[in-house]
Amino acid sequence: MTTTRPPVLIRTADVAEHFPGIIGLYRAHGWTHAGDPARLRTAIEHSSFAVVATEDERVVGFARAMSDEAFAVYIADILVAPDHQRQGIGRTLVRAILDHYPMDRFHHQVLVAERGAEGFYRRLGMVPVTSYGLTAFIRSSR
Ligand SMILES: CC(C)(COP(=O)(O)OP(=O)(O)OC[C@H]1O[C@@H](n2cnc3c(N)ncnc32)[C@H](O)[C@@H]1OP(=O)(O)O)[C@@H](O)C(=O)NCCC(=O)NCCS
Repeated sequence: MTTTRPPVLIRTADVAEHFPGIIGLYRAHGWTHAGDPARLRTAIEHSSFAVVATEDERVVGFARAMSDEAFAVYIADILVAPDHQRQGIGRTLVRAILDHYPMDRFHHQVLVAERGAEGFYRRLGMVPVTSYGLTAFIRSSR
């Protein structure tokens, strides 16, 4: 079978160029962050590292991370366009972040998994904090 689809490229996000596509992903998944574009843009601009997946200039995936650049990395907002899921894009985005903060230099990489996404993170070799005898605590406005 032949395909006319262009390849999906993974690269560092350029907020000026990619923000319209990025917020489109938040909207496509009904995430409330999309309701306040200025606030979302601030969040992305202040992230330590952000990556996009593009197909023919369309943003089809996004992920970002916050880090102290020494010990800790918090990974957030991994989003793949509904019509591009289960093609390895999410895995490649997360791997780009994990590789950017290698475990031989960093102490831990953490994230909060949405319901239904646990299996995805397990496939990437991540484990629940309870595996280390730890408990994660959270305060949330939602
Ligand atoms: C979760 C999400 C990012 C996964 O992205 P994706 O591009 O579809 O995932 P991939 O194709 O890279 O999948 C990698 C592996 O995880 C598996 N996988 C993907 N989504 C999964 C899920 N929800 N549950 C269990 N396994 C999953 C795939 O089958 C694949 O397995 P393999 O290693 O055997 O091939 C995507 O479904 C998404 O955007 N969901 C909505 C937003 C969301 O919930 N994000 C997570 C926030 S915590």
